[in-house]
Amino acid sequence: MSLSSEYFDELYAADADPWGIERGWYEERKRAVVLAALPRPRYARAFEPGCAGGSLSVPLAARCDELVCWDPAQRAVDATRARLADRPHVRVEQGALPPRTPDGTFDLVVASEVVYYLDDADRAAFWDAVTERLRPGGHLLAVHWLREAPEYPVEGGAVHDELADRPGLARVVRHDEADFRLEVYARTPPEPRSVAQETGLR
Ligand SMILES: C[S@@+](CC[C@H](N)C(=O)[O-])C[C@H]1O[C@@H](n2cnc3c(N)ncnc32)[C@H](O)[C@@H]1O
Repeated sequence: MSLSSEYFDELYAADADPWGIERGWYEERKRAVVLAALPRPRYARAFEPGCAGGSLSVPLAARCDELVCWDPAQRAVDATRARLADRPHVRVEQGALPPRTPDGTFDLVVASEVVYYLDDADRAAFWDAVTERLRPGGHLLAVHWLREAPEYPVEGGAVHDELADRPGLARVVRHDEADFRLEVYARTPPEPRSVAQETGLR
C-alpha cells in the first residue's frame, strides 16, 4: 500500500520539518546537486510533487516561468505557500500522487524523495502520468535516498531501476553516491541532446 496522507499529517503534527530538510549540510548540498543537474537554465512550466516546506521550491521558482507545487500534508502546503506568497507564478496546492496530477503539460517534473512512498500500482500510474504530461524533450528529475527505509513500500534504488525501463523516457543525467541516486530523463521523441549540444558547444 502507498503511504497515506494521514501518515504524513501525523509526521508533520510532531515536527514541522520531519526529515530535517531545512537543517544541515546533507540536504543543503543535495539541493545544490539537484539544481546543478537540471540540464536547462530555465523551464517554462514545472511540477514539484511532495514539496514539503518548500526548501527546493524556492530555488526552483527562480528557474521556472510557472511552478506547481503539491503536497498532501496541509502543514507542508501552508509553509510552502507562506514562503512563496510573493511569487505569483507559483501555485501551491494540497494534492497527492496519483491518481491526480495537475492539469496541463510540463517541461519539468521534479520527483525528489517522493516516489518510494507509492506502491507498485501507484508508481506505474505516476510514471504513466508523467510520461503523458511531459512535453516532447521535457525533463523528469528523480532523486531518492538509497539507504534502508523499511517502512516505505519500495527502496530508492528500485524506483530508479524501474524508471530505466519506462518507454518514452531516455536518461540524460545520472549521479550516484552512497546515500542517493539522481537521474534526469528526457521525454522522447525527439532524441535527447546533451547540454553541450543544446547550448551550441558542439
Ligand atoms: C521527504 S519529503 C521531500 C521533500 C522535498 N521534495 C525535498 O526533496 O526536499 C516528502 C514529501 O512528500 C510528501 N508526499 C508523500 N506522499 C505523497 C504523494 N503521494 N504525493 C505527493 N507528495 C507526497 C510528504 O508529505 C512530504 O512532504
